[in-house]
Amino acid sequence: MDRYLSSEQQPWSVGASLNPSGGWGEATEEGTLWEESTGGRPGDSSTIEPSLHALQKFVPTDYASYTQENYLFAGKNIVLQESIENYGAVVWPAAIALCQYLEEHREELKLQDAKILELGAGPGLVSIVASILGAQVTATDQPDVLGNLQYNLLKNTLQRTAHLPDVRELVWGEGLERNFPRSACCYDYVLASDIVYHHYCLASLLSTMVHLCQPGTVLLWANKFRFSTDYEFLDQFKQVFDTTLLAEFPESSVKLFKGTLKCD
Ligand SMILES: C[S@@+](CC[C@H](N)C(=O)[O-])C[C@H]1O[C@@H](n2cnc3c(N)ncnc32)[C@H](O)[C@@H]1O
Repeated sequence: MDRYLSSEQQPWSVGASLNPSGGWGEATEEGTLWEESTGGRPGDSSTIEPSLHALQKFVPTDYASYTQENYLFAGKNIVLQESIENYGAVVWPAAIALCQYLEEHREELKLQDAKILELGAGPGLVSIVASILGAQVTATDQPDVLGNLQYNLLKNTLQRTAHLPDVRELVWGEGLERNFPRSACCYDYVLASDIVYHHYCLASLLSTMVHLCQPGTVLLWANKFRFSTDYEFLDQFKQVFDTTLLAEFPESSVKLFKGTLKCD
């Protein structure tokens, strides 16, 4: 059942701590995270301190109301904190489609230990599923949604995945070579779900996709097609990426494309 939280009840508030099994933990003296399901004591796991550092990297996202939504992928119940106050705080249809595809094709895609970057990760469902499937994930988005993204990622991956996902700010077109230098950032996959819609950043989104892809990188882009501008973006995408339609999800009008950078 959905549960609405006031901003005072957010996990970020003093007196509550993150309990990755789905409930709210009591604050500990040290204020550390704890794991109810494995019976771990506060602060006794080597995974906890780095996670706490990660949690502290971003300011809390301060939405007035939240819901908790449940998803089931890769045999795991995933609980996301969502808010209708921001596009980046709710799960969009293409994220569900992309997660289904990742789950069904995990062997063929060789996701175990694969290096993945997600663009416009929003509340984080795709990055969480990719992490549960064994990948090393960097989830990116604009600054205003990173607090909630970080929270959802930690809540659903701590002590559940081989690699804890990382969260990084990435505003399309900004500081790409400084923050994601091509010599150091080589990804097996770049993932994108429902990040093409009627906004003014489509050109910088395309240049960001090009920057992050190298020979060997596969871009998996799932999108619900709604506007003529979505199809115009697809035409521009096809000019720079060899493009294959991998799957269609008629019930949600989502198409999933695979793109590899054209070499010329
Ligand atoms: C419609 S939401 C999709 C969220 C998620 N991928 C999903 O499918 O559930 C679009 C996402 O793109 C992000 N976004 C929009 N413009 C952006 C920009 N210029 N730079 C980086 N991210 C941006 C938003 O913050 C939001 O998280």
